[in-house]
Amino acid sequence: MSAPSASARAHGAPDVARAAAPSQRSDDASARPRVISIVGARPEIIQAAPVSAALAGVVDEILVHTGQHYDQAMSGGQIADTGLRSPDYNLGVGSRSRAQQLGLAQLRIAELIERERPDAVLVRGDTNATLSGARAAAAAGVPLVHIEAGLRSHRRDMPEEHNRLQTDRLAQLLLAPTPGARRNLLDERVAGEIHVTGDPLCDTLEHWRPRIQPAGGNYMLATVHRNYNTDAPERLAAVLACLARSPWPVLLPLHPRTRARIDEWELEVSPWIRLLAPVSYTRMLALERGARAIATDSGGVQREAYMWGVPCLTLREETEWTDTVASGWNTLVGVDPDLFHEAIARPAPSARPPIFGDGRAAPRIAAILAAFLARPTTPPPNHPGPLIEDRQTRPSRAAPSISNSAASEVPA
Ligand code: UD1
Ligand code: UDP
Repeated sequence: MSAPSASARAHGAPDVARAAAPSQRSDDASARPRVISIVGARPEIIQAAPVSAALAGVVDEILVHTGQHYDQAMSGGQIADTGLRSPDYNLGVGSRSRAQQLGLAQLRIAELIERERPDAVLVRGDTNATLSGARAAAAAGVPLVHIEAGLRSHRRDMPEEHNRLQTDRLAQLLLAPTPGARRNLLDERVAGEIHVTGDPLCDTLEHWRPRIQPAGGNYMLATVHRNYNTDAPERLAAVLACLARSPWPVLLPLHPRTRARIDEWELEVSPWIRLLAPVSYTRMLALERGARAIATDSGGVQREAYMWGVPCLTLREETEWTDTVASGWNTLVGVDPDLFHEAIARPAPSARPPIFGDGRAAPRIAAILAAFLARPTTPPPNHPGPLIEDRQTRPSRAAPSISNSAASEVPA
């Protein structure tokens, strides 16, 4: 294993640091199940608060931050702003190559699994933290739970697509935010048990909705950080050229990755585009709510635009969140300035069905997880098990059924 990178060290990312002192697993049979719950990057942190609160009623959650994001504005500040409790561990992985990030996080999560002996590992979304947790759980034979399962971009040049595909194959419990995500999982014949829960990001937003005043003024809000929008100077220049066509001034809170590329390639940024540091989640909600339109390549921001009823222009050729496009609220414009311009002129649709659920995904997730953990585990390896598996019975939690056609579903 390599030492922490200069970048990780420079940002003060510690080696496995224990912020609190979770107790060792009790052998008392009445003890509550213990679940290692992983966050690593900004969107995972933002979605974690309602889930963590709901889990508190049914399991002992050991909250683990891999340290993939570490800037105050990307991590610590977001934890404070969303009201997520302090993680029990920070694994200090920091910025590295994808392979190093995956490998180091997996190793450190594996060490934690050894130490904490959880009953399940819960991961969310599609980041390197997600896949690291999934691999560590699978290697240790610990049941894996995936929140935000089943999303697909069908783009193999996105690391997130690999992370999702692999995580969904390893998971025993797949919690899909939408029926469309469930259909993707059924099409792929994943082995785990599938439930549609709604989207915890919707819970987070609904929690804040009454307290968020829209920011004032006429402006477009934008965010950009996808690898394929930021890894080539021509493409990033095309993104910036699109934004410069906005009829309103553009506010662009910049992901550190994008800021680094603009600086490195000395790209010209129109004075029409105001570059900001990443803003806190609640400030972002206010900016979203007050925007005339939102242009983004972020998965979370596309959904939030929909939840606020603000038209969205997605700076991509595809999206995982296809329901937002089908509804007419989101338009895929890629980096085509004409499409961008046309999309802005489109009138907003009148209907906005609750495609991300009812804001109660988190309690649903907690209830499904509690029921899953209450079921008997797989017999030990020397136990012969049933000769013929009864497909009508619900799967044991460590031995998922092959077919999901009869998987239970909680409507969103
Ligand atoms: C990651 C996720 C992506 C998610 C995004 C959310 C993967 C493969 N991608 O992408 O799905 O949408 O987080 O924001 O996991 N950096 C900092 N400070 C930080 C974090 C990152 O300066 O606190 C810079 C570093 O230069 C780093 C770069 O941003 O190399 C990229 O960070 P990384 O976590 O590798 O990927 P993201 O682009 O953030
Ligand atoms: N976000 C934020 N501050 C910003 C930009 C985004 O709080 O400056 C929030 C946004 O409201 C959403 C989440 O970050 O809740 C989305 O994360 P991100 O765009 O980093 O990743 P993605 O959703 O694409 O994985």
